[in-house]
Amino acid sequence: VPCPVRFAAGPFAQELERLFKVAWPSCNLALTVSDALVLDADPDLLAQVLINFLRNAAQATRHLADPHVRLAMAAQSEGVLMKVEDKGPGIPEASSSDIFLPFYSTRRDGSGIGLNLVRQIAVASGWPIEATSGALGGALMRLLLPRS
Ligand SMILES: Nc1ncnc2c1ncn2[C@@H]1O[C@H](COP(=O)(O)OP(=O)(O)O)[C@@H](O)[C@H]1O
Ligand SMILES: [Mg+2]
Repeated sequence: VPCPVRFAAGPFAQELERLFKVAWPSCNLALTVSDALVLDADPDLLAQVLINFLRNAAQATRHLADPHVRLAMAAQSEGVLMKVEDKGPGIPEASSSDIFLPFYSTRRDGSGIGLNLVRQIAVASGWPIEATSGALGGALMRLLLPRS
């Protein structure tokens, strides 16, 4: 059961960055989090979603010479929009809903569990999620924390 609380986005994002650097030391993570942004969410569930997005982004860019991933959080009229973007091969539009199915994976060592877990958390929490393509040419995963 999701247990939402209010907390500052900055330190939360920095903790994700710290975990990311340990797991993916050769991939650069750029954070864009507005000052004084406050989140209203279950922090463990939100971290699970973002870590899955970040892990997939790091894996999608691991073959690149200069791998980097972006994590952005910004307040909008509808709520707080979170974006994880990479410069990998992207997700074909035809598969943008299949990727959330259990066991769907295109990776040799993939399980297809990650984004299915993400979808379950998102549905239970009331967070719309979407896989699209970004300006970097790779995948852009979007998550909205609706204004409560
Ligand atoms: N950032 C990304 N870039 C390209 N493809 C992605 C990305 N994230 C997810 N995908 C696609 O979605 C599939 C499912 O992801 P996921 O559920 O995390 O399973 P896994 O990582 O075990 O393959 C991946 O196998 C891949 O085809
Ligand atoms: Mg995965």
